[in-house]
Amino acid sequence: MLVKSKNCTVCSCVGEPVRQLWVDGCWHDTYKGDEQHPPYCEHLDDGIPRPPTAKVSVTAKLAMPRFYDTGDDDIDDEDHVQHLANEAWCYMNFPAHFSEHWTGYNLVPPIKDPVPVGAVVPQFYGYYRPEKEEKGKFMSPILLLEHCGLQANMEDLTLEERRECWSLLERLHLGGFVHNSVYERNILIQNGPIHYSPFKRSDLHPRFRLIDFGRCEEVDESGRNAFLERRGADRKLNLDMMFA
Ligand SMILES: Nc1ncnc2c1ncn2[C@@H]1O[C@H](COP(=O)(O)OP(=O)(O)OP(=O)(O)O)[C@@H](O)[C@H]1O
Ligand SMILES: [Mg+2]
Repeated sequence: MLVKSKNCTVCSCVGEPVRQLWVDGCWHDTYKGDEQHPPYCEHLDDGIPRPPTAKVSVTAKLAMPRFYDTGDDDIDDEDHVQHLANEAWCYMNFPAHFSEHWTGYNLVPPIKDPVPVGAVVPQFYGYYRPEKEEKGKFMSPILLLEHCGLQANMEDLTLEERRECWSLLERLHLGGFVHNSVYERNILIQNGPIHYSPFKRSDLHPRFRLIDFGRCEEVDESGRNAFLERRGADRKLNLDMMFA
C-alpha cells in the first residue's frame, strides 16, 4: 500500500518526483520513495522516518459453489458466488467516507449523544476472479478485505457501544445502501484507537465495523427498505429509541 502524498500549504507541491518507474506499460513517479522519508516536501517533512509501505492484516472471503451438499440432507440453494460479486460491487460503490477514519464525533439522530466517527466498513483490497474456468472444477473468486477483529456480542456491549453500532447502520443508509443481513455476527469489534499501532491498541477503546454485504442493495425510492431495517436493528440491538 502506498502512503498517500499530502499537499503542502506552504508551496502547494505534492513532492518532486525523483525517479520514474516503468510499471504495467506506463511511467510512475516514485517521489523519493527509496529515501524512506515521505511526505517528500521539505515543508511537510517532520523528520520522522515513515516507510512508503505499510503492513495490514487481511481477510480473504471465498464462496461455496451453488448446490453444495451441507451433509444433513439439506441443499443450500443460495448463490454464494453471486453474493460475493454483489458484495464486491458494493465495496466499489460505497462512498469514500465508509472506509475513512476520522477523529471526533457525529450527531446521528435519534441518538441524542454524539457517537465516534470511524470507518463503517473494512478497507477493500480487491475482488479477484479466476482467469479461466475449468469444466467440473470450482474455483472461487476472492474478496480481499482488511481484517477487522472478532464478532461483537451485543450482550457484552454498553448502551453507548450498541448505539455506535446502530450509527454505523444509519450511516450506511444515509450513504444509500441497505444491509439486508443485520445480525450480531455481521458486526465486528476490534481494539482501538485505530490510529495507534496494533501493539498499543486496547479493549478500552473498542471500534466497530459492519461486514457481509452479499445481500446489500441500494435504498429504494421511498426509503422504506432502510426504514424497516433501521426499525429491526433498533430492536435487535436492544436500543428502543426509534419508538420510545
Ligand atoms: N473483514 C473481516 N475481518 C475479520 N473477520 C471477518 C471479516 N469478514 C468476515 N469475517 C469473519 O468471517 C465470518 C463470515 O464472513 P461473512 O459474514 O462476510 O460471510 P457469510 O458467509 O456471508 O456470513 P453469513 O453466514 O452471515 O451469511 C464473519 O462472521 C466473521 O467472523
Ligand atoms: Mg455473515
